[in-house]
Amino acid sequence: MDGTHVETRDHLVHNYAPLPVTVAHGEGSWVTDTDGRRYLDLLSGYSALNFGHRHPTLVAAAVEQLGRVTLTSRAFDNDQLGPFADELCALVGDSLALEGTHAAMLPMNTGAEAVETAVKAVRKWGHRRGIAEPTIIVARDNFHGRTTTVVSFSTDDEAREGYGPFTPGFRVVPYGDAEAVAAAVDETTVAVLMEPIQGEAGVVVPPPGFWASLRTVCDDAGILLVADEIQSGLGRTGTTLACELWNVRPDLVTLGKALGGGILPVSAVVGRSDVLDVFTPGTHGSTFGGNPLACAVGRAVVRLLDTGEVQERAAELGDHLQLRLDEMVESELLTEVRGAGLWAGVDLPPTWESGRELCLALRDAGVLAKDTHGTTIRLAPPLTITLDDLDLGLDRLRDVLATR
Ligand SMILES: Cc1ncc(COP(=O)(O)O)c(C=O)c1O
Repeated sequence: MDGTHVETRDHLVHNYAPLPVTVAHGEGSWVTDTDGRRYLDLLSGYSALNFGHRHPTLVAAAVEQLGRVTLTSRAFDNDQLGPFADELCALVGDSLALEGTHAAMLPMNTGAEAVETAVKAVRKWGHRRGIAEPTIIVARDNFHGRTTTVVSFSTDDEAREGYGPFTPGFRVVPYGDAEAVAAAVDETTVAVLMEPIQGEAGVVVPPPGFWASLRTVCDDAGILLVADEIQSGLGRTGTTLACELWNVRPDLVTLGKALGGGILPVSAVVGRSDVLDVFTPGTHGSTFGGNPLACAVGRAVVRLLDTGEVQERAAELGDHLQLRLDEMVESELLTEVRGAGLWAGVDLPPTWESGRELCLALRDAGVLAKDTHGTTIRLAPPLTITLDDLDLGLDRLRDVLATR
C-alpha cells in the first residue's frame, strides 16, 4: 500500500444498492460529498440522525466519555449505565403500562437485537405461565430488522428468500385490523408486537383507534403489547413515543436508532420490570450492550428530549411538512401522502418509473431521500432542521416532481 488508494468496491459485499453519492462530511441537516457538493439530508439515517449530523451536545458527550472509559463489558459495572437506565425510564415511564410494577430497561446495540430481546422476554414470560410453545402476533408488511428470527416473521419475500429454516411461533395478521388480531389470539399467544406506524412499509399510519383496540385485546387476553418504536420513537412523530399520539401505553417498547445520536449503535427494551425480570444473570446479554460510551451518548440524547422542545418542534414543523405535501397531492404531483410529525411517506404518480428514479433526480437537485417499495419515498428530515431548510427541500422536491 503506497497510500494512493483507488477505490474499486470489488471488496464490498453488495447487500445494499446505495444512491451514487459518497458522503465525506456531515453537519446538522447537511452532508458534503467527496467532490464538495452539498446535499440536504431528508432521510436522517432512517431516523438514527433525529438530531442531525454531529449534534454538538452529542459529540461533546462522546468526546468527554472517550477521554474516560469506553468499554467494560457487563462483566464489570460502569458509572454511566445505571444513570442511563434511570434517565431513559424516567423519560418514557409515564408512557408505559406500569400498573403494579415499575419501568426497567435492558441495553443492546442494534435495533434488531432489541427486537430479538423483546421476543425472548415475552417468550420466557409465557413459559413461566406454563405456555410450552408461545406465539406472538405480528403485522403483515412489518419491518423489525434482519436477524434470522426477525426475518422469520417478515412478509417481505426479498428479506426472507434463501434464509430458511425459519423460527416458528409467529402469527401474521393484516396491519390496522384489530378484529383480525383478536381472532388470532389463542391460549398460546403471549404478545402482540407491531410498529406504531409502519416505517419501511412506507410510513403507514394505522386507522384511528387501532392501537387503543390493540391495548384492549391484550388486556382482555392477559397478554403483552409490545411497540417497536425503533424508527417511530424519540421525537420523530412529535411525541417522545409514537404511541402517545393515541394515549396508548404498551407493556414493552423497543428503542434504537436515534438513541445512539447518530454516533454509535445504542438500543434498548424498556418496559414492565415484572416482565423484563425474566432475564437473570447468564440468560441474555451482549458484550457491547450498555458500554459506557454508548450510555454517555444515550444519556445526552435523553437530556435533549427531556424538555419536550424537540418533540414540540417536530410536531410544528411536521404540520408544515404535511401541509406542503398535501398541496403537492392537490396539484397531482403526488398521488398520496401519509405521515405523522416530521415523517412522511409519499406515493409518486405513474409518470415516475420508480422511487429510485425520483431519488436520483433529487440527488441532482441537492437533496437526499430514499425510496421504499416501488414508487414510495420516505421523508424523515432531522428534527433539528430549520424551517428555511425544510422549505428549501420541499421546494426542490416540488420542482423535481414538476419536471414530469
Ligand atoms: C421499526 C424497526 N425495527 C427494527 C429495525 C432494525 O434496526 P437495526 O437496523 O438497527 O437493526 C428497524 C430499522 O429500520 C426499524 O425500522
